[in-house]
Amino acid sequence: MTDRAHTVAVEPTYILAPSLLAADFSRLGDEANAVASEADWLHVDVMDNHYVPNLTIGLPVVDSLRKATALPLDCHLMIESPDRWAIGYAEVGAYNVTFHAETTANPVGLARDLRAAGTKAGLAIDRDTPVEPYLDILPYFDTLLIMTIKAGFGGQEFMPEMLDKVRAARRHIAGGHLELRLEVDGGIDDRTIVEAAEAGADAFVAGTAVYGNGDPAVAASALRRALSRVPGFGTRGTGGNHHA
Ligand code: DX5
Ligand code: ZN
Repeated sequence: MTDRAHTVAVEPTYILAPSLLAADFSRLGDEANAVASEADWLHVDVMDNHYVPNLTIGLPVVDSLRKATALPLDCHLMIESPDRWAIGYAEVGAYNVTFHAETTANPVGLARDLRAAGTKAGLAIDRDTPVEPYLDILPYFDTLLIMTIKAGFGGQEFMPEMLDKVRAARRHIAGGHLELRLEVDGGIDDRTIVEAAEAGADAFVAGTAVYGNGDPAVAASALRRALSRVPGFGTRGTGGNHHA
């Protein structure tokens, strides 16, 4: 048996983050825990009916979710004025707080504030936003989320042309020896997850593919199985590793 005191937390090869957006909102706690054995993070889409037309959940729900599941909460803020609201998500215990590059004039300042508040900081790049202008500020971030759809709704079709941004970001991350997760979000299923992984992504959000029909744990495990066929992605353990 391993002496836990001497065990070094090993960074998983990749992160699977089921998105609650496609779950049954009347049973969010149960839906979160249904994927506990297969998920690394739980992706929570916060939409404000301003930055995106859709309206989903906000701070009180994230606060409640934090108490309902041990999974790290990966909060994706699709909101205006993240400078005003993002810190609240750190304060209620989000693991990672991602805001959109399009929504603030001072992404570095906000990233610093998030880290100071004890959470990881994420930068999201929407469909119509190039990634190049943001490459130089990546050292201030723990995650870079490349949208593979237009942010706002689940169930949209994956846009393979977005993978050029993933490739450019991966080259930059590798060249600069940066330590951050490269996350993709939108239209991820057991086929597109492989394309995204081959382009350089190492964190994968999936809503419809996990919660769309049937048992979400089985669906999440199918995504893992698809990834296991990608070179370099086969070494992941059996899920539930929350140390990343
Ligand atoms: C949409 C959200 C996504 C959404 C993805 O703007 O950011 O996280 O849940 O849903 P699917 O996986 O159905 O495309
Ligand atoms: Zn999202």
